[in-house]
Amino acid sequence: MKMKIGIVGFGFMGHCLANMFNSFDDIRLVAVADINPEQLKDAPEGVERYSSIEDMLEKADIDVVMISTPNPSHLEMVEKCAKAKKHIICEKPAALTVAEFDQMVKVAKENNVIFTVHQQRRWDKDYRIMKEVYDKEMLGDVYLIKSQLYGFNGYMHDWHIYPEMGGGMLYDWGVHLIDQILNMVDSKIDSIYADLRNVINEKVDDYFKILMKFKNGVTAEIELGTYYLTPKRAWFIGGNTGSAIIDGFDGEGRIVRTTHLLENVPGKITMTAAGPTRSFGPPPPGLLYEEELPKVSVSHRDYFEHFLKAFRGEEEIMVKPEEVRRVLAVMEAIRESARTGEAIRFEHE
Ligand SMILES: NC(=O)c1ccc[n+]([C@@H]2O[C@H](COP(=O)([O-])OP(=O)(O)OC[C@H]3O[C@@H](n4cnc5c(N)ncnc54)[C@H](O)[C@@H]3O)[C@@H](O)[C@H]2O)c1
Repeated sequence: MKMKIGIVGFGFMGHCLANMFNSFDDIRLVAVADINPEQLKDAPEGVERYSSIEDMLEKADIDVVMISTPNPSHLEMVEKCAKAKKHIICEKPAALTVAEFDQMVKVAKENNVIFTVHQQRRWDKDYRIMKEVYDKEMLGDVYLIKSQLYGFNGYMHDWHIYPEMGGGMLYDWGVHLIDQILNMVDSKIDSIYADLRNVINEKVDDYFKILMKFKNGVTAEIELGTYYLTPKRAWFIGGNTGSAIIDGFDGEGRIVRTTHLLENVPGKITMTAAGPTRSFGPPPPGLLYEEELPKVSVSHRDYFEHFLKAFRGEEEIMVKPEEVRRVLAVMEAIRESARTGEAIRFEHE
């Protein structure tokens, strides 16, 4: 069964999604809707063009609506699509608050439609490699997972600089980076501490550091900066049998282990530029060795492959509303911690 889809909001992401749908035999892009006629000019040949969501819902023969309008309009769009009995894939962040998201889930349930969110970064290669390292317990007992993303632009683009548009990096990349960690660490969260700053941008956050302590003993640290001038996407996982490191979206990196643990480490003094040290001099030759990271083959197409199966009733939806809600709840705790300067207890019965 082919899936007939319409896109509302044919801007940057709408265009990316149209290209994605075009690569599927079983997904047919039937219609696009946008209030700005300029955006509709380059819609693919044969695709119906509408100037409003209402018009598209009334006239287009579609099963699913992909919502890629600006963040504050998502609730209104979800309500309209659900009431028109269309299944829904909504762009991230699905909602700006948990309360708003709960309304979305309610209206989707009442109308018996599928409601999911485009968290396609669960299929990023760098993330999937680290998830495999974690899932297969390749590093023994993990104590720390670090996920870092740094850029040099400083200022953000377009609507991202306006708070009333749901701008700022926490709503933008933060929602992906948190979603990745929550889908890696299968444990309740004990506490959340965060620093959220405006380094260059006056009105919206452009730097954050988030510490999430999980009940299973893992601490996750997520750090992002738009003006952090060592641009990179990096990961570190530390366990008691090794460390895993990634530098770059393509997942370049390694696992580092020691041939043996130094027992009763002799108090050997090494001279360094920082003076004598017994703990942090260079490792003895042959102590450290490297292994390859696991190979993974993933792409953002996988998100829609799974959605197609869910649409046909062959499998459960992969990005579940309760998972999206948890990410939004974590984001509310992050804002509270940043505002109060305190660690926030989370998921305490
Ligand atoms: N999943 C991802 O990785 C990812 C990446 C980028 C953007 N996004 C999300 O996609 C959404 C859109 O972001 P963008 O960067 O494409 O924005 P954009 O400004 O480029 O596009 C938004 C489009 O929506 C149209 N629009 C606004 N109000 C409308 C309405 N009421 N009805 C119909 N059309 C309307 C605008 O005219 C514009 O063409 C945001 O929620 C954003 O967070 C997700």
